Amino acid sequence: MAPDFSRRATTPELMDAEDVPFEDYCACLRDLATVNRLTLAYRPTLDFLTRLARSGRVSPHRPLTIVDVGCGYGDMLRRIDRWAQRRGIAVTLTGLDLDPRAARAAAAATPHDSSIRWHTGRFEQFRPDGGIDVVVSSLFGHHLDDAALIRFLAWMEATVRLGWFVNDLHRHPLPWAVFVAWSRAARWHRFVHHDGPVSIARAFVAGDWRRSLAAAGIPDGAAQIEWRVPFRLCVSRLKGS
Ligand SMILES: C[S@@+](CC[C@H](N)C(=O)[O-])C[C@H]1O[C@@H](n2cnc3c(N)ncnc32)[C@H](O)[C@@H]1O
Repeated sequence: MAPDFSRRATTPELMDAEDVPFEDYCACLRDLATVNRLTLAYRPTLDFLTRLARSGRVSPHRPLTIVDVGCGYGDMLRRIDRWAQRRGIAVTLTGLDLDPRAARAAAAATPHDSSIRWHTGRFEQFRPDGGIDVVVSSLFGHHLDDAALIRFLAWMEATVRLGWFVNDLHRHPLPWAVFVAWSRAARWHRFVHHDGPVSIARAFVAGDWRRSLAAAGIPDGAAQIEWRVPFRLCVSRLKGS
């Protein structure tokens, strides 16, 4: 049965609730990376970084420090690494995830000569030496309840030097119905079958973001809320713009 889309669902995702063996967990993350690729999930984040690079804010004298919160399998950071290499931008990339299996799975899926670091921990306690220029996240915000989401926005705002980008889903019956039908036909991990529709139901409409930004003390108009194909709702902040 379709959920009530008028408010964020509180149904837990299996990924957050169930402990499974490492191989099983990796299979789930691999399938999630396939869904990310097929649903063009990397584009909004890479477009934001391109906008930042073109804005003249990136120092040519030191690497751009980017942290991906809730990095999971690390596929977004591997894309960002390629984006930076193509443009000759020096970067320091860190993936942060509270589940220790994520760091292990992401490291195993990353070329041995890569300099991406994988860190286990909660964003609330993460204070790296040298600070952070940019925080990105993808499919992470909807894992948080409303109060934790406000803490996340406030933490990013207080922590970053240059900006932050939240890449998440638009809560809407159409992507929910499409994903349910698509996942019936696809042989994805059972977590992806279950958590995909739940993620859409836990996700956001623009009004949710406006309320959360205000509650986090982010000035009106300082952050942009942007809808991206297919049914992504992204929130970005470039400091000093
Ligand atoms: C659906 S996964 C998203 C993975 C990846 N970003 C992607 O787009 O495929 C959400 C991740 O957030 C992590 N997570 C949840 N709460 C967290 C917190 N407070 N700090 C850091 N990571 C957290 C979970 O362990 C999980 O790996």
